[in-house]
Amino acid sequence: MQVLSGKDVAMSVLEHVRKEAVIFGEKYGRMPSIAVILVGEDPASQTYVAAKKKSALELGYGHKDYHLSVHATQQELLELVRELNADDDVDGILVQMPLPPHMDENCVIDTIDPAKDVDGFHPVNAGKILLGRSSLVSCTPKGVLRIMDHYGIRTAGKDVVIIGRSSIVGKPMAALLMQKGRDATVTVCHSCTLGLKEHVRRADIIIAAVGHPHMITADMVKSEAVVIDVGITRVTDLTKKKGWRLVGDVDYDNVAPRTSAITPVPGGVGPMTIAMLMENTLQAAQERKR
Ligand code: GUN
Repeated sequence: MQVLSGKDVAMSVLEHVRKEAVIFGEKYGRMPSIAVILVGEDPASQTYVAAKKKSALELGYGHKDYHLSVHATQQELLELVRELNADDDVDGILVQMPLPPHMDENCVIDTIDPAKDVDGFHPVNAGKILLGRSSLVSCTPKGVLRIMDHYGIRTAGKDVVIIGRSSIVGKPMAALLMQKGRDATVTVCHSCTLGLKEHVRRADIIIAAVGHPHMITADMVKSEAVVIDVGITRVTDLTKKKGWRLVGDVDYDNVAPRTSAITPVPGGVGPMTIAMLMENTLQAAQERKR
């Protein structure tokens, strides 16, 4: 059984991105830059935004940080997004989700210039993925593909079962895997799927993206399957300094011995998401200059 270290792959991606960003900087007199907007005080969102900022600063990227109050209006947020759309020194715009309930996430995403949509959430970018056209690809599914590419895991002709149909992971993941070149046979399971276990047991490659700790158990996994665990849930653990730890969708200890390869949590898909965000920011910068 091989442990697929997203942490190692992310480091090598970031090394490459760093070199390309320096080349961009020498050519255009400024580094790629990202603007990150956080609304409210959600602790998990604050952690994610801080990690994105750290990574951007380590690469020498331009970085703008906006923290709006939980009481900010939708109009204020939209005005900020429009301002950043018009700012030629900003290549990427990221609005951290979830937004407070009085805001309309779709409306905010629709307002971001698709050329600066480094999350790949805008309908133009999401649509291009489905059509197999080049675009800014949503970071988590892109990270999953990169881990598989790095470790030589081929998807052509394989039965891939994705559990979870979110717009951020499940749907783009399915679209990417069925494209020419990837050539997988894709099944997407979700909360209304009947006979989940039977679907998952057929899979050569299982991609779990639900956010239910340990829902994928050993009896659901075919021997020698590849297992990619996208789930990252914080669970209380008072033995930890922070008072919590991260748990995946896969019951790792019992599932891992049955697999040919598996991503751990933490250190699997998580670190890839930020690496792909940095790569998307570089891509957006390069394409805007074209
Ligand atoms: N919230 C959880 N994951 C993400 C992400 O990848 N991007 C944004 N913008 N918000 C998130």
